[in-house]
Amino acid sequence: MGDVKPVATLYAKYGNVIASGVAEFLYDRIQKDSYLTPFFVGVNMDALTEHMGDMLCVLTGGPDIYKGKDVIAAHKDMKIDETAFNAVVGHLIKAFEDAGVEEADSALVLAELAGAKDAIITA
Ligand code: HEM
Repeated sequence: MGDVKPVATLYAKYGNVIASGVAEFLYDRIQKDSYLTPFFVGVNMDALTEHMGDMLCVLTGGPDIYKGKDVIAAHKDMKIDETAFNAVVGHLIKAFEDAGVEEADSALVLAELAGAKDAIITA
C-alpha cells in the first residue's frame, strides 16, 4: 500500500460503509466528471471499486484484504496532474459525505492519503 498507514477504529465504527460504500459513491461521481473520465477509459470499474473499497478497509483499521497494486505504482504512468488529483480528492470528500461519514472522521483518512499526493502526481 505504499506510504499509507491505517487510521484504526474508523472501520469498527462504520463497517463497510466507510470502505466499499465510499468507493461506490466515489466512482459514481468520477464517472460523471468529464475532466476525469479520460483517465478511466478501458479500466474495469468493478475491479477498481473493489480495490478502492479494500484499500479504505485496511486504511481505516479493517481486515487486511487489499490485493490491488501498490497505490503509488498503480498511478505512475498515468501523467496525473495536480488538477486531476485535487478533483479526485474533491469527489472523495463528497463520497464520504454521501456515505454519512462524519467530517472529523473522513478528515483523518484524507490526511493520511494526502501523504501520497506528491507520489501520485507525475505531470
Ligand atoms: C488519494 C488519491 C488516490 C487514491 C488513494 C487512489 C487509489 C487507487 C487504488 C487503490 C487503485 C487500485 C489499484 C489496483 O486495482 O490494483 C487505483 C487505481 C486507479 N486510479 Fe487511483 N487513486 C488516487 C488518485 C487517482 C487519480 C488522481 C487518478 C486520475 C485522475 C486515478 C486514477 C486511477 C486509475 C485510472 C486506476 C486504474 C488503474 C488500472 O486498473 O489500470 N487515481 N487508485
